[in-house]
Amino acid sequence: MTHRAKPMKGIVLAGGTGTRLHPLTLGVSKQLMPIYNKPMIYYPIATLVSSGIQEILLITTPQDASLFKTLLRDGSAWGIRFTYLTQSKPEGIAQALVLAEAFLDGAPAALILGDNLFHGKGLSDLLRQQTNPSGATIFGYAVNDPERYGVIAFDAQMNPVDLIEKPSNPPSTYAVPGIYFYNHEAPARAKAVTKSGRGEYEITEVNKSYLKDGALSVVLLDPGFTWLDTGTFAALSEASQFVEVLENRQGQLIGAPEWAAFQAGFIDADQLSALATPLMRSGYGQQLLKALNSYGAR
Ligand code: TTP
Repeated sequence: MTHRAKPMKGIVLAGGTGTRLHPLTLGVSKQLMPIYNKPMIYYPIATLVSSGIQEILLITTPQDASLFKTLLRDGSAWGIRFTYLTQSKPEGIAQALVLAEAFLDGAPAALILGDNLFHGKGLSDLLRQQTNPSGATIFGYAVNDPERYGVIAFDAQMNPVDLIEKPSNPPSTYAVPGIYFYNHEAPARAKAVTKSGRGEYEITEVNKSYLKDGALSVVLLDPGFTWLDTGTFAALSEASQFVEVLENRQGQLIGAPEWAAFQAGFIDADQLSALATPLMRSGYGQQLLKALNSYGAR
């Protein structure tokens, strides 16, 4: 008998303490900080939407939840649906999967970190291919500073053999970016994780549990893709410059959930135009209309 999986749901993890951005984040959540012309959380939301995901859970701190609700509401204007949950203490990324269990209700899950920005030609197609995983799919991306992340160890044939969280001696330069695709087993596997030495439920442990069972796929991302983690002053500023250059110089539109929703078929051209109208004074509305017009002209 074939088992038909439910449509994949998305989780954006937007809690945490943002200590590396203090004092910026003493009063406001990190994921509401601007990346050039949009709040940071727009970028991961747009990434999920461009993967064809329509049901999204937003996990925030209790103190910031109302700000996110003011910004994003129920998602219906973008043809998607937001559900909100809070994480009372930032006890680790794997906790998101436990908190999300009822929301997921047996569906596969794409978990994305609220401060991660992904961009690149063909990325949404690549992500769409992962939305019905038989186990888990994670990515590998070569970086200069792998010791800051979960790192992949490979055998001589480049098969993944281990995952190590923040290793002092990284076994490769391949860090695991903050987007993970899981089948329905993720909440159960996350529940089995115990706290690490630094007091967190590590997502690396969930991924290792799939690896141990031969159920982990690792997709190496081409260096032509961009992955930015925006959690420090320099990274925040660099991400803003990256978006500014591509949007102003090349006319691209990056991290716009409205545009992603249109491309995914969740809203039509009239709905996109209506969303653009009240946003004309900042120029963002024009960017949406320009994207729409050039789409029509193709
Ligand atoms: P981190 O950047 O590792 O942690 P942080 O946001 O608390 O920042 P800092 O290190 O500066 O104190 O978290 C990555 C992402 O995951 C970020 O978007 C916050 C989110 N997160 C949670 O929502 N809950 C958690 O328990 C953790 C650890 C992270």
